[in-house]
Amino acid sequence: MKARIKQLAKQYNKKTIEWRRTIHANPELSFEEYQTSTFIQSVLKKEKISFTNGWAKTGVVATIKGNAKSKKVIALRADIDALPIQEKNKVNYKSKNDGVMHACGHDVHTANMLGTAAILNQLKDSFGGTINIIFQPGEEKLPGGASLLIKEGILKNPKPDAIIALHVHPPLAAGKVGFHPGMYMASADELFVTVTGKGGHAAVPNECVDPILISANIITALQQLVSRKADPTIPTVLSFGKINSTGGATNVIPNEVKLEGTFRTFNEKWRAKAHKEMKKIAEGIAKSMGGTCDFEIKKGYPFLNNDVALTNRMHEAAEEFLGKSKVVHLPKRMTAEDFAFYSHQIPACFFRLGTGNKKKGITSGVHTDTFNIDESALELSIGLSSWLTIQELTR
Ligand code: NI
Repeated sequence: MKARIKQLAKQYNKKTIEWRRTIHANPELSFEEYQTSTFIQSVLKKEKISFTNGWAKTGVVATIKGNAKSKKVIALRADIDALPIQEKNKVNYKSKNDGVMHACGHDVHTANMLGTAAILNQLKDSFGGTINIIFQPGEEKLPGGASLLIKEGILKNPKPDAIIALHVHPPLAAGKVGFHPGMYMASADELFVTVTGKGGHAAVPNECVDPILISANIITALQQLVSRKADPTIPTVLSFGKINSTGGATNVIPNEVKLEGTFRTFNEKWRAKAHKEMKKIAEGIAKSMGGTCDFEIKKGYPFLNNDVALTNRMHEAAEEFLGKSKVVHLPKRMTAEDFAFYSHQIPACFFRLGTGNKKKGITSGVHTDTFNIDESALELSIGLSSWLTIQELTR
């Protein structure tokens, strides 16, 4: 089976790269992936793979049934949306859509799942059960396409026994993959804080309520959330990335200051408690200094949990397919991913595909205007994705 899959991966490599380049050249923003959706459907039609469409408008689900008898169901997932970034790469498949770029590798994820679908479709006689391949819109934007698809019943009738996805990883060299069993990525919530005081001449601060000083106190005091309130065994991050006043000058105290930040952690109970604590601290400080504070929290994705047993099985199966030296253990990270929603419903495994290549100068990180991948990763990824799926279906 390993040899057969490797041969099919070689066979579909060129097509997969072509698909990736087509998708890369035609990126679309979250929940607007209409052309991408049409393209995915056209490839599936050509490959004679059945599918349903219209999931959260642009989502597509391909279904491949094995010819042997089995009730097992495995779901695979690719995200299909791009980011509002102007591409700076000088390649002939550069983004044709101004200000929009596949800078997070979702073009790679989509092409990978198309190639994987094509391979698995050729192998139908060698396994039983059902494979549902989810082409999911809107990973980059709240509330996240995954949450919408779950509401639309993507994990029902039939309920998958497991769900697997991969993500490009530039720090890891092409040719390698990485796994992390258990909690892997953080929950992420957006913070929007408005501090209101009373503006006036900066030379007479005693007649004003200074929202800048209040904000400074709030930012400083909120640091205790991580250092004093959080259980030290639960990783927690609180960062403010934006601070702006409405008006204000060297000699003018403004009426209002707006702050924006992010809160990330790995525990739902603590997450809920921290939301209340942040509000309490900020509102209390504003009040004690004569102002007011509106503390809005936009709840984002939960933490991503990689099912330990499933992820360990996938790690071992990857070693068997690629060789031990090509599979690494990755540390936890504080970034977030909407695949987390699936991981709170059914056993899930989210792993990383090495796509970097220092010798070729392919080192830019995701979400940058020069992000790209070493495309040699694709032959590996379509083979490995097929192998992992069959391992899980036939175990
Ligand atoms: Ni991404």
